[in-house]
Amino acid sequence: TFAQSSLTLHTDQAETQISKDIYGHFAEHLGRCIYGGIYVGEDSDIPNVRGFRDDVIGALINMHIPLLRWPGGCFADTYHWEDGIGPREERPSMVNTHWGGVTEDNSFGTHEFLDFCDLIKAEPYINLNVGSGTVREAAQWVEYVTSSNISPMTDLRKKNGREEPWDVKYWGIGNENWGCGGNMTPEYYADLYNRFASYCLGDLYRIAGGPNVDDYNWMEVLMQKTMRHPHLVQGVSLHNYTFTTAWEDKGHATEFGEKEWISVMNNTLKMETLVNRHSTIMDKYDPEKRVGLIVDEWGNWFNVEEGTNPGFLYQQNTLRDALVAGINLNIFNNHADRIHMANIAQTVNVLQSVILTKEDEMVLTPTYYVFKMYAVHQNAKLIPSNLKTEKYELDGKSVPAVHVSASTKDGVVSITLCNLNPNKSESIDINITGDDFSSVSGQIITSDNMNDFNDFGRQETVNLKSFDVAKPKDGKLTVELPSKSVVLVQLK
Ligand code: AHR
Repeated sequence: TFAQSSLTLHTDQAETQISKDIYGHFAEHLGRCIYGGIYVGEDSDIPNVRGFRDDVIGALINMHIPLLRWPGGCFADTYHWEDGIGPREERPSMVNTHWGGVTEDNSFGTHEFLDFCDLIKAEPYINLNVGSGTVREAAQWVEYVTSSNISPMTDLRKKNGREEPWDVKYWGIGNENWGCGGNMTPEYYADLYNRFASYCLGDLYRIAGGPNVDDYNWMEVLMQKTMRHPHLVQGVSLHNYTFTTAWEDKGHATEFGEKEWISVMNNTLKMETLVNRHSTIMDKYDPEKRVGLIVDEWGNWFNVEEGTNPGFLYQQNTLRDALVAGINLNIFNNHADRIHMANIAQTVNVLQSVILTKEDEMVLTPTYYVFKMYAVHQNAKLIPSNLKTEKYELDGKSVPAVHVSASTKDGVVSITLCNLNPNKSESIDINITGDDFSSVSGQIITSDNMNDFNDFGRQETVNLKSFDVAKPKDGKLTVELPSKSVVLVQLK
């Protein structure tokens, strides 16, 4: 008998490293991501270390979070970093104009962010203000954080309690400068980028604000103008969110049927086309693939939960989100030669979060478990693969039933497989050439219903379970993927 799908893994061709930073996250001053989610202040009754939630720190460490982007998002181009340093009671406040018009008291600033990154063992990625900031302000922030010279900025840092510079490599120069970050043309932004980047000194990984979704002209102009000074550009960002239908019709996070399920699968798979087409443009100016495509905002964006502030972007997270996370991470792995980093939006309580909090309670979402499962790919070598699979079709839409990526590290082969079909299990034959494996193990994320989710005050519904896989025979492994599941198979 033949399986419905087949996968051939070319273990002998595993060369490209999957950067751990593809498993990065993003935390903006937006709704309850920072305040309430990450930071509750030292005087809070919620258990904390220096104001950071103990439960959230523990969960992020267990998930193996490698990297965190901050402070925005749209917020970044309104943020003046000097307001967020020094004694907290003396820090001026500001209005968070993009997100709910709430007052931001600046109690979480540069020192707090970098302290938090140390606690969760994640690399920091700071996004500079281009939209409403100055070149001087940006240059001084870089100096304040990274310099070991004697200067007014490093003196100020020391005065604020930090003797040694921090090791911050990743710096974003503006955010969505085609939109909330200044409504610029690509020509104007690219010139500004060169100007800002010229004064952000040091051995930095500078990330230019890239296109919105399929704005290929933005990528073309940006690459053409910035690559005149190649030493000033190390990465270009790309933002792409998944909606149920479109921006105008984001859909419900938990109440949906199969039509909305396949629509989300179909929309999220467009990431593959975006990555391919943007990479082709980048190849023209950077054939050696030195400049990284940095997908620093991605994930599902649904309507906010009823009764919550529309400016806070709070949404629940179901098994459907797990599939979306699995698919996108597979895409990023498979394009690891060009994608050097990706950051799902956003870590806690905002959009497709890995963690939700309510007062002192915490929920780990289905998306959390995908990141935990996929951590095996961090810094592993990508195994090129060939997949033949059936179609899953409904409502005029057609998507592949199975979606995969595979990698190898320390003699272990890890294959992550998504079954997009919510009605039918899929058998898949996996052909692995040239290796003799003595043991095989598996893990699975699935649930009875496609809209199952984890909630406060009850037992977890969707999480990571072990999954039985039969040993390979004559270089062939047959796996039965349950409907609507994300599966990890490991061989060694
Ligand atoms: O993640 C929410 C918002 O989406 C970010 O602030 C912005 O960059 C994007 O439009």
